Amino acid sequence: MGPQTLALSGVERLRSVRAQTVQLFDLVTSESVLRSEPMPGFRPLLWHLAHIGVYQNYWMLQRCAGEASINPRYDIYFDPIKTPREEAPVLPNRTEIDAYLDETLERVVAFIERADLDGPPLDGRLSPAYALALVYEHECQHQETIAFVLQTLPSSQKKSGPAPLTGSRAAAAAEIAVPSVRAWIGARGAGFAYDNELPPQALDVPAFSIDRDLTTNAEYAQFIERGGYGLRELWSDEGWAWKERTGVSLPLGWSAQPFRERTFFSEIPLREDAPVTGVSWFEAQAYAAFRGRRLPTEFEWEVAAAWDPARSAMRRFPWGDEENGERSRPLTFSTHPVGTRRENTSALGLNDVCANLWQWTSSPFLGYPGFVAYPYPEYSQAWFDADHYVARGGSWYTYPALARTSFRNFYRRHFRPAFIGIRCARDAR
Ligand code: AVJ
Ligand code: FE
Repeated sequence: MGPQTLALSGVERLRSVRAQTVQLFDLVTSESVLRSEPMPGFRPLLWHLAHIGVYQNYWMLQRCAGEASINPRYDIYFDPIKTPREEAPVLPNRTEIDAYLDETLERVVAFIERADLDGPPLDGRLSPAYALALVYEHECQHQETIAFVLQTLPSSQKKSGPAPLTGSRAAAAAEIAVPSVRAWIGARGAGFAYDNELPPQALDVPAFSIDRDLTTNAEYAQFIERGGYGLRELWSDEGWAWKERTGVSLPLGWSAQPFRERTFFSEIPLREDAPVTGVSWFEAQAYAAFRGRRLPTEFEWEVAAAWDPARSAMRRFPWGDEENGERSRPLTFSTHPVGTRRENTSALGLNDVCANLWQWTSSPFLGYPGFVAYPYPEYSQAWFDADHYVARGGSWYTYPALARTSFRNFYRRHFRPAFIGIRCARDAR
């Protein structure tokens, strides 16, 4: 493939991800919803829209192409570090933000079309291929944030959409015995990776067992019915303190007697075989303890997701080494019954590695040995604070590019709105 082919596909990716950003915003029925705090301590959705544009403008045009800013005010307002949430000025209206995003994207497209995507960076600048992937994955990730925020909004503030996927799990619960292996953890070889996936490290990961499926709503309901939220011994000290302080006794979006769950467009009777979500890391840990299990470490998770026993090597994606391209199917706007999408099963047989829910791990988010912050410390390093924990895999919303098995998502332990679920593990017998 010559630079021209790559350039075209890069532009197409930026345009198609942008079309989906706009579609998400168009699901909201009134601009006032976009302008207000969707949850306490959360920035308005319109801030995210402007921020997506500012990020693309900054990294592609200023830090890669070497152009001047087209709106220095925006550069400051819509950078989370330069303008903290508490100091946020009045938001421009959607039309103004849309115009800024359009102008930025057209300039970016013009730059990509003349840039040498195989070329090295100029001194002190990002390489075009790196900048392109950086802004693409950034927009993909903010889209998912916008999506889980939208899910928390009352249905009256959203247009309607497809009914959630129902049905039965593919098979009864089972465990996968993962042998002890020496594996490359982290990103190796071709393709974009964040600084936190680097450098790759050869690690001995001892044998362990891991649930083939994500924890279902029915399984989690048992934990509730058997008093799991009141059993002190299941909880960590911080988890118990968090639960006592907040009074949490159900996953986010659930109501009880009988159990009901909130999906993207509706509130429905609990789908027993869909995977549980809306749980903090603390709840995931307590649930695993209730089952006599624990959460997997992020390295165990990576081995279960990527190890190919036929080659004694790690795959870049659960299904092989090649990315699946753009989303190949329309968005479902819901999780699906566990194990019913076999295209996301790993070589070792782990179901729903991605494309259903992210999975909490027992690992705090830290730099790998030899970590170097790049291209800025606030992507990863600023969150190496022992309160952010790693989630792996990917949700029904996640773009295939981010489903690489080395990708590390991270949230604070009490955080519940993200599309994250539970998969239990235990030591090998
Ligand atoms: C890795 C998804 C937690 O959304 O805060 C977006 C990704 N970093 N802009 C986030 C991110 C900078 C990040 N997460
Ligand atoms: Fe961002």
